[in-house]
Amino acid sequence: MSAENLFILTCILCTGDVMRLAFLGPPGSGKGTQAQILAKNMGIPQISSGDLLREAVQEDTPIGRKAKQYMDKGELVPDTIVVDLVSERIKNESQFLLDGFPRSLSQAERLDEVLSQLKAPLQGVINIGVPLEDVVERLCGRLTCSQCNAIYHTKYSPPEKEGVCDLCGGHLFQRSDDTEAVITERFQTYREQTEPLISYYGEKEMLINVDGTQSIEEIAAAIEKKLHRI
Ligand code: AP5
Repeated sequence: MSAENLFILTCILCTGDVMRLAFLGPPGSGKGTQAQILAKNMGIPQISSGDLLREAVQEDTPIGRKAKQYMDKGELVPDTIVVDLVSERIKNESQFLLDGFPRSLSQAERLDEVLSQLKAPLQGVINIGVPLEDVVERLCGRLTCSQCNAIYHTKYSPPEKEGVCDLCGGHLFQRSDDTEAVITERFQTYREQTEPLISYYGEKEMLINVDGTQSIEEIAAAIEKKLHRI
C-alpha cells in the first residue's frame, strides 16, 4: 500500500470519518474473526456474505435452498444471488466491514458499481495470507454461534463453557462445510476465483497485507497498526 493510501486511512481513523473496508483471504484465514474484532472496536457493522447465505439456508428460503447446493460442494454461489443479497444489506450503511465479499473479479466490479451509485467507494482491502496446512486445522476446530455468529476454536479460541457462546449464550455448532474434503475444494475455489483480487486491488493501491499465520491477537494488532500508520 502506498504512503498516500495509508495517509487516507489514517485520516479516516483520526477524524472519526466513515470506514468502508473489505477482508480478503482463503477459507480459515481469519477474515470473520478479524472483521468481528475490528467491528467491535470501531462500532462498525460486519457484513459477512457467508453468514447472510447461511441465514437464508437456515430459514429454508428459495435463495437458501439454491445457495446450499453450491455451499455444500465448496463452490461459489452464483453472483445473481450473492450480489443482490450483499447490495441490499449495505445500501443503508454509511460504513461497513465486508467479510467474504467480493470473492471474484465479477463481484468486485459489481461492488464498485453499487458503491459508486451510493457515492461511497471502498477505501481499503485487508488481505490475510495463510497456507493450506494451517487452515485445515483451524476450520476442523471451528465453532460458530447459532444466534450471533461469534466465532470460536476448540483449541485457539475456546468458549468459557463448552458448547455455549460467551457473548449471548447461544448454542455453538460446527459448520457442515468444515470437512476436510469440502475445505480442500473451497481452497481450490479461492485459488482460481478469489486470488486474482489480490492483483485487482493491488493495482488500485487499496491492499493492506497481513501475515495470517500469527495468533489472533497479533493479527488484530497488526491490522490496527497498519490502519493507523502513516
Ligand atoms: P464463508 O462463510 O465466507 O467461508 P470462507 O470464505 O470459506 O471463510 P471462512 O468463514 O471459512 O473462514 P474465515 O476466513 O472467516 O475464518 P474464521 O475467522 O472463521 O463462505 C462459505 C460458503 O458460502 C462459500 O464456500 C461459498 O459457497 C458461499 N459464499 C460466501 N460468500 C460468497 C461470495 N461472496 N460469493 C459466492 N459464494 C459465497 O476462522 C476460522 C477458524 O480459525 C475459527 O475457528 C477461528 O477461531 C480460528 N482462527 C482464526 N484466526 C486464527 C489464528 N490466527 N490462529 C489460530 N486460529 C485462528
